[in-house]
Amino acid sequence: MINRYTFGNPIETEAVPSKPSLTSFSKNKTRLQINPETCDLEYPLAKDSIVYGLGENVRGINKRGFKYVSYCTDIPNHSEDQESLYGAHNFIIIFNPSAPETSLGIFIDTPGKVIFDIGFESLDQLTISVPSGSFDLYIISISENISLNSGVADSIVREFRQHIGRSYIAPKWAFGYGQSRWGYKCSEDIRSVRDEYQKLGLPLDMIYLDIDYMERYKDFTIDRRSYPDFETLVEEMRADGIRLIPIIDGGVKKESGYDVYEEGVKNGYFCKDEDGNDFELGVWPGACHYPDMLNDEARAWFGQKYKFLTDKGIEGFWNDMNEPAIFYSAKHLKEVFESLDEYRGDNLDLNKFFEFKGLVEGINNNPEDYRSFYHNYRGQKVLHDDVHNLFGYYMTRGAYEGLRKIDPSKRFLLFSRASYIGMHRYGGIWTGDNASIWSHLKLNLRMLPSLNMCGFLYIGADMGGFGSNTTEDLMLRWTALSIFTPLMRNHSALGTRDQEFYRFASTPLFKNLLSARYRLVPYLYSEYMKSVRDNTMMFRPLGFVYENDSIALEIEDQLLIGDEIMIAPVMEQNASGRVVYFPEEMSEIRFEDENVIAVKKYPAGFHYVELPLGAVNLFVRMNRKLPIGEAVASIDEVDSTKVIYYGLGSEVKPYELYDDDGVSFKEFG
Ligand code: GLC
Repeated sequence: MINRYTFGNPIETEAVPSKPSLTSFSKNKTRLQINPETCDLEYPLAKDSIVYGLGENVRGINKRGFKYVSYCTDIPNHSEDQESLYGAHNFIIIFNPSAPETSLGIFIDTPGKVIFDIGFESLDQLTISVPSGSFDLYIISISENISLNSGVADSIVREFRQHIGRSYIAPKWAFGYGQSRWGYKCSEDIRSVRDEYQKLGLPLDMIYLDIDYMERYKDFTIDRRSYPDFETLVEEMRADGIRLIPIIDGGVKKESGYDVYEEGVKNGYFCKDEDGNDFELGVWPGACHYPDMLNDEARAWFGQKYKFLTDKGIEGFWNDMNEPAIFYSAKHLKEVFESLDEYRGDNLDLNKFFEFKGLVEGINNNPEDYRSFYHNYRGQKVLHDDVHNLFGYYMTRGAYEGLRKIDPSKRFLLFSRASYIGMHRYGGIWTGDNASIWSHLKLNLRMLPSLNMCGFLYIGADMGGFGSNTTEDLMLRWTALSIFTPLMRNHSALGTRDQEFYRFASTPLFKNLLSARYRLVPYLYSEYMKSVRDNTMMFRPLGFVYENDSIALEIEDQLLIGDEIMIAPVMEQNASGRVVYFPEEMSEIRFEDENVIAVKKYPAGFHYVELPLGAVNLFVRMNRKLPIGEAVASIDEVDSTKVIYYGLGSEVKPYELYDDDGVSFKEFG
């Protein structure tokens, strides 16, 4: 059962298209209460309560023990003390194992900052604060109509997802493997990536174009000096089964004569400062303006611009820098330069030094800058800070709507860096800039179910790590996780170690992992599409299914994918295997040397499972069966009618293998 309560005067986010009617909060029968002094929402957590959710965030699947701040933030160097990442996903489930009927889902719908203190100030207390005081609160509690064959948390998610609307549907080809890197300077670099993959017989369905393809980082331009033959390149790659996927940035370069800039200025489509001037800030191209993605007309205008590239044969995009990132604002930069002089010749003692350092380091993503520009949202002048979390969402929505107009019959690939719940209807996400460190591999796994809860199904991380230098073993282990995520993209930052698979000596191992990916696509695509159709999760924590198993409830490094399988990737360096917890008897399937090997059965309990570098395994649940396809060279060759089922048990459940043409919306309207 879902109830809606309103506090203050919330700004509409369009996150919930089918809103239940309003109820008075005093009628709420849960333990969630309002603190009359602070106006915070408070919930006393039981010792064994688990808090799931918050989408893209640091720390565990169980979010207890930290304070998270919902505020889309460009933060490449993050560790577990980071309170905000690229997305803002205000949905949690409090699951109470000892009294499951008291479990509930909570969604705080407001476009500004929200603070979730989940046992930070006080271990057993959940406190939700909304600084603006205005928000819609949705409480999903367990109702009689909970279906018997699904768990409590599953039912809450389904009910929530029914209200926030159907998730974005990616084309099937977007389940192929993609190579990306910031720094492919010219057409020849792209050809060389293709050639190297081809030479080694490694499948490759996509090559991503980072900002290098643009003319001085201007959206909807091509740098003709380095990509003179862009159109031919697109065609040539397509003939080789590869799609090029360009990046689009949120900021528009301020440059007279540049059509996007000129049109934006002329029509008043950019965000404004206090005095009504176009707000000026710096990102990759230097001085820029941000299109007012919240303004319907401006958004539709920007969305139509994608045609510049679709006309050249492009079928997919990634939207970036849309938290929005601000390297500096023109105004603040000027102030910093003026103040810097005051320090010249000074003795920079403790206080002075940190003041000086703070001045310089504080120029990017400065909170003051987010409080100094405005949107025209639904006909009102609205301070950016109050609607901050909508920017990436609306940019991607604009792109989606633009692409639907450009070709209504076709699915485009579209994913974004920043997001808010609601954006799940328009695109997928990648989890932003991570680093080539083992803890970020673990984080990748833990974010998957939390994102699914919020409706984000087409998801993935920069495998191998974006920042810092990867290592061959990390790349192999990360690939062994990424073969299960819908978005499987190897991406890295300018200046870091090259990490295309052909850069490493262990080509056969990468080949084995890729072959497993393509063999699993019939299952992964089927599970993805059924999750879209049924509002279910593709990736689930063990506790969602084995909710009476106190050990399963605490497992943070294994996941269920669909109803059939469990994964337990090796995520420690120098480990030749790992301890896996089996909540029930399961059978291990291993992909090794491009062969599928049914290894052995494991009875319920803890077992050490060996897994050499370059191999990947999964575990088929009791009385389930997993379809495995043929090892093919590209997504176009995946044939879901040619699968072999691997199953275990005497009463194996039939498997519904969903398939379609992968490009149209035929079955989904
Ligand atoms: C941002 C993106 C990253 C991209 C870079 C250059 O950091 O998150 O993926 O490579 O910008 O465009």
